Amino acid sequence: MKKILLSGVKPTGRPHIGNYFGAMKQFVDLQASEKYDCHLFIADYHALNLIQDAAEMRRLTLDLALDYLAIGLDPAQSVIFKQSDVPAHTELAWIFDTIVTMPYLMRAHAYKDAEAKDKELNVGTFNYPVLMAADILLYGTDIVPVGADQKQHVEYARDIALKFNHTFKSEAFKLPEDMIMKDVATVPGTDGRKMSKSYGNTIPLFAEREEIAKAVMGIVTDSSGDVPTNVYAIHKLFRTEADLKPLYEANKGKYKALKEALIEDVDAFVKPLRERRAILAKDEGKVIEILRQGAKKANEAASAKLVEAKKAVGVL
Ligand code: TYM
Repeated sequence: MKKILLSGVKPTGRPHIGNYFGAMKQFVDLQASEKYDCHLFIADYHALNLIQDAAEMRRLTLDLALDYLAIGLDPAQSVIFKQSDVPAHTELAWIFDTIVTMPYLMRAHAYKDAEAKDKELNVGTFNYPVLMAADILLYGTDIVPVGADQKQHVEYARDIALKFNHTFKSEAFKLPEDMIMKDVATVPGTDGRKMSKSYGNTIPLFAEREEIAKAVMGIVTDSSGDVPTNVYAIHKLFRTEADLKPLYEANKGKYKALKEALIEDVDAFVKPLRERRAILAKDEGKVIEILRQGAKKANEAASAKLVEAKKAVGVL
């Protein structure tokens, strides 16, 4: 029996190399290993907390589907689908809402950050971990490949599974594990903080060469050491450290030359992905059909677990 793998990305804008190395690359590598039944989805209902414009939502969703296919996700090997196409996610989230307490959700990092900044929070954002627990638990997921920032969310899913099983004397939900790759758990951005759309410190995964050059030239360098830490941290995503050593030794203190080398390496890596994406983008009908087929399979996979949960709580 293959293990069940599930993960998702929010369609909130172009993915960056942090999303790719931290999570999306693992989707492709693990799909190829043939050890897992892979379920990879577009978390559009999670994105709805941020994207509140219909045309933009449609565009970003199709864009992310194209990104998935361009990095090598294969609908013949993985179930690729859109969260909102599988109503069981929101249905199960409601069931979970009835057993999850507010103080427990108030411990979430995302909630605490919003509180600290005195930001008004919608209920969807507050409830984010509950919907994510439903995403994960519906498929009997064993592993969830993600970046470090999602660790707490996978813990929430485990806790909610335990609480459900305990409350309803059920064995419906399996406890999932996160899979976080040590070296890329938190990919740094051009300013050394975690790479994140909200910090404006990203290198987009499908960027054109000029955009890559602009982002790399903007990497914050300090003048305290021989090696510009922020440049090096990004560079080692693209080349081995053994490979980088002579380059950085030969160019001690020459930040411009090192950044130029980094531009070359990022562009060489991104170019084939960009080209593949451009070809796929010519046939959006095909992408829509892939999502439709994926939704069919995901609905089949999710419905048995939802029935089990509904029986356990007594609405069926
Ligand atoms: P999202 O869309 O913010 O990010 C997608 C994936 O990229 C990872 N990531 C990073 N990894 C390393 N370094 C970084 N700088 C970096 N920035 C982002 C994230 O950890 C994530 O794995 N809540 C999820 C989407 C989601 C989901 C799920 C994931 C919804 N339901 C169920 C797994 C299972 C999110 O917002 O990811």
